[in-house]
Amino acid sequence: MATQETGHAQGAAPATPPAAGRAAYLMCPPDFYAIDYVINPWMEGNVGRTCPEAATGQWRRLYDRIRGEGGEVELLRPVPGRPDLVFTANAGLALGGKALAAHFRHRERQAEEPIYKEWFEGRGFEVVELPRGIYFEGAGDALPDRGADLLWLGYGIRTVLDACVYVAEEFDIEVVPLRLVDPRFYHLDTCLAPLAGGRMLYYPAAFDERSRRLIETRVSADRRLAVGELDALHFACNCVEIGSTLILHDCSEALERRLAEWDYAVARITLSEFLLAGGSARCLCLRLNEGRAPRAAAPRTEYARRTVSFQGHLLDSGLLAEVLDLITRGGGTFETLEFRPGPRHEDPSYLRLAIGAPTAGALDQLLAHLMQQGGRLDEGERQPAQLAVVEQDGVAPEDFYSTTIYPTDVCVGGGWVRVSGQRMDGVIVVDEGGGDSAATARVVLMRDLRRGQKVVVGVEGLRVHATTEAREERGEFRFMASAVSSERRVEQAVEAIAWEMRQIRRRGGRIVWVPGPVVVHTGGIPYLCELARRGYVQAVLAGNALAVHDIELALYGTSLGVDLRRGVALHGGHRHHLKAINAIRRCGGIAAAVGQGMLGGGLMYELVRHRIPFSLAGSIRDDGPLPETRMNLIDAQAEYARLLEGAEMIMMLSTMLHSIGVGNMTPAGVKMVCVDINPAVATKLADRGSFESRPVVTDVGLFLNLLARKIESLEAESRQGE
Ligand SMILES: NC(=O)c1ccc[n+]([C@@H]2O[C@H](COP(=O)([O-])OP(=O)(O)OC[C@H]3O[C@@H](n4cnc5c(N)ncnc54)[C@H](O)[C@@H]3O)[C@@H](O)[C@H]2O)c1
Repeated sequence: MATQETGHAQGAAPATPPAAGRAAYLMCPPDFYAIDYVINPWMEGNVGRTCPEAATGQWRRLYDRIRGEGGEVELLRPVPGRPDLVFTANAGLALGGKALAAHFRHRERQAEEPIYKEWFEGRGFEVVELPRGIYFEGAGDALPDRGADLLWLGYGIRTVLDACVYVAEEFDIEVVPLRLVDPRFYHLDTCLAPLAGGRMLYYPAAFDERSRRLIETRVSADRRLAVGELDALHFACNCVEIGSTLILHDCSEALERRLAEWDYAVARITLSEFLLAGGSARCLCLRLNEGRAPRAAAPRTEYARRTVSFQGHLLDSGLLAEVLDLITRGGGTFETLEFRPGPRHEDPSYLRLAIGAPTAGALDQLLAHLMQQGGRLDEGERQPAQLAVVEQDGVAPEDFYSTTIYPTDVCVGGGWVRVSGQRMDGVIVVDEGGGDSAATARVVLMRDLRRGQKVVVGVEGLRVHATTEAREERGEFRFMASAVSSERRVEQAVEAIAWEMRQIRRRGGRIVWVPGPVVVHTGGIPYLCELARRGYVQAVLAGNALAVHDIELALYGTSLGVDLRRGVALHGGHRHHLKAINAIRRCGGIAAAVGQGMLGGGLMYELVRHRIPFSLAGSIRDDGPLPETRMNLIDAQAEYARLLEGAEMIMMLSTMLHSIGVGNMTPAGVKMVCVDINPAVATKLADRGSFESRPVVTDVGLFLNLLARKIESLEAESRQGE
């Protein structure tokens, strides 16, 4: 071969790495190339299916073309039993005479590491290495931009996010981490190619959304070209750029035309033998003398890392898997610093994780989620909460912390302060106190913020009390309710609920009901009325429809025009609900209609008669509405919140809209029963991570019937016992 072969065992190599100038590459002849194992989706089904002669011919044509375009090629001596040595792009990252050696994720390729390292050393590179366990697959995942002084780093499949810190430090360069999410594009160079002048070829679907946004903000639209799936699968992004030529396996004519607009000529070299293993032109050569753009500013790599610990039933509750999945899906990485599994069922486990994320903002988001799962920022790292001042009424400062249903403490003035008015989706307003007054913290809705107030931003100095024990309990209830078809399960749930309702009422506690109109359609109203008469309803939160259909039933015996006793639609019955609305409006309202003797039955009648407060919140679907329906939703929310105060139990009956609204306003610790025929809705509503929430998957009419009967029999038993 006409080039100089500088095999790892040879000592004749020049002592200095190739200088800038003609593009210099390292290639390795495919003498021992084969597919002997499967470490990516391309290799599946292809073990032993490569053709050595064809591979040699294809490789040779690539080699000749690179040299023909003016590139220099140095050769690494192939080694038997190292079939992937041919993919030299993964040897390491060579930049400015320094080589950061690869640490392969798969054992199969780890044996290549010393071979590449020895070559780099023999060739005069200053070789640096990452700590063990920090996987980094060289120029396959680390691509210097060709316009700006930054380096794109692919992570998530082979290289780990933590590698970006080392790359940034070793090369004194800003590293922009991009998360790869499609295993077919397992290295960054399979789906992204930085081109001269800061241009870029990339396949957007290979990245997570954050990374896509990052590319879009860092590379202007006129300088980036998104390739389609077919071109990506032909490895169009895995191209070698020499001067104005792009050497690649194949691409569509459309892409070729687009590239021609950028003055590139496409040189197609069939590399099908290497595609079988998931590699193409760029994978087969490592650039040795990559130039660097002039440095614009001090490099900054936004990698952030924090330590979080968890204690509780992490294994049997499935929380461990949930937490790790959350971190990975959020674009972060983790390192287990300590893990002590509970030796017996009742023993808690302990887990301490170092969590890394590509930016401080992404880390904060991750931490906020993990805190909801019971995660605690390391005590050693405890710092006061960060506060920012509200500058505009009703607008929170950027990066505001949004609250959960769990009791939360804020670190203010060196001590922990419990947040009052806990609810979901609010912000925390802190009054730092002073003089004689102590610091306070409370949840405020964004719209109620006022200029000058101080709001918690980020996640620093926060402690969320979401216990993992509670989550395990919830798992049990979910199991109980998940046997959808089993009537016995529903009966068991009803028994437990009836017992709890009795307990609550004995101590004078409040039970708030959130029924949807389905309660009327399914014949549940008489039972709900009975429960109201027996004193188990302290407030009703509903929409216009519940009241309309309840009144329609009371006045005409129909619900949406259907005769509930006979189950048939009445002729002209569809007008009944409008007539009901009209009749109530004529009286001036529901209470007035009861007062005038016009309305003499049904739930609304019982509520008025027993002075049980109710709130009807309006919606865009509403007919009428009834005079009592609050069409101003801010007023409706405030009224709901007021009626929920002090509730010990909330019965959510077949209404998604109002149940979700109520769920968001309610802190953890309030028992919640969510009845819906759709298991997805019932579990979603109950899935607050709080053990007090129970999904009951059944027909709501049947549920109310069972519940009223159970309460009746419990009361009868207790009367007999007296
Ligand atoms: N005429 C009107 O004014 C009118 C009519 C309908 C709805 N609305 C309004 O629209 C809004 C949304 O209505 P919504 O809360 O009823 O709808 P929704 O879609 O939010 O909830 C209905 C729920 O009931 C469940 N369900 C259906 N059949 C069931 C059964 N047999 N047993 C148990 N669960 C059952 C469904 O799975 C669903 O989750 C409300 O504000 C309501 O007042 C107004």
